Amino acid sequence: MDGVISAIESRRSVRTFDGNPIDKERENKIREYIQKVDNPFRVPVELKFFDAREYKLSSPVIIGERAYLAGLVPLGPFAEIAYGYTLEKTALFAQRIGLGTVWLGGTFKRENFEKAIGAAEDKLMPCVMPIGTAAKKMSVREALMRKSVKSDTRYPFEKLFFNKSFETPLSEGEAGVFLKPLRMMRLAPSAANKQPWRVVINGGYAHFYKKSDKGFNRGYGDMQKVDMGIGFCHFDLTAKEEGIKGEFIVKVTGIACPKDTEYVISYVVQK
Ligand SMILES: Cc1cc2nc3c(=O)[nH]c(=O)nc-3n(C[C@H](O)[C@H](O)[C@H](O)COP(=O)(O)O)c2cc1C
Repeated sequence: MDGVISAIESRRSVRTFDGNPIDKERENKIREYIQKVDNPFRVPVELKFFDAREYKLSSPVIIGERAYLAGLVPLGPFAEIAYGYTLEKTALFAQRIGLGTVWLGGTFKRENFEKAIGAAEDKLMPCVMPIGTAAKKMSVREALMRKSVKSDTRYPFEKLFFNKSFETPLSEGEAGVFLKPLRMMRLAPSAANKQPWRVVINGGYAHFYKKSDKGFNRGYGDMQKVDMGIGFCHFDLTAKEEGIKGEFIVKVTGIACPKDTEYVISYVVQK
């Protein structure tokens, strides 16, 4: 099985599936994986695997899917972030065993998923995710969707990452031990490909900020907090694969933030 970094590099959203159920062996691998998948934020995320036909689960932008992943997370600080981390970790595992996925936050029939999972007032189900084998050819609609949000591109490294303060862009040459984790964070998927991750590097710290856009928080969770969790997953799993030891901690950074940008958490490398 490929490592995490190559899974991140080869992943793309899949919206056109081959119409076949996942073979039992891989379905069981996914079912086992979601029983034990964890996150570093100590927020429990309960993921479930659903047969799409049995539970009448569908999305107007997805073709040929036979299964979905969906989950619940208790309301509270870091709820969406933990959800993003945990479901992306599962999506990368799926990628490593040859299965495609796509994050869906808006374009799916929410009532049917809420019924299937047993939605509760004190829990969120921010997103769901079809899972299966990608069709050989992408649908025309999928190709158009990718074009409209420029899914094949990401902002330059220097636009997302900064050196000591938001005044100074960080070049790849200055990123040191954080180079690979930041490169992999940059490749993460995000809602409408808005890429809200902003990072200020200072010594052994990476301070993470969220650059917010309007219209991403519609009552079932802030999609851009989910994006942050997805980015943290790419960063953290890459750090682990590179043998870097570190942890997420909340800090008072004293760094002045640009407009619409707020502090979320830091990562500190252990000496
Ligand atoms: C939190 C989140 C919500 C998303 N919601 C939708 C959605 O409702 N419908 C959809 O077609 N794609 C959705 N996407 C997929 C993004 O459009 C896609 O990840 C982005 O354009 C980058 O493309 P890539 O994943 O192929 O790299 C979502 C992605 C994320 C991370």
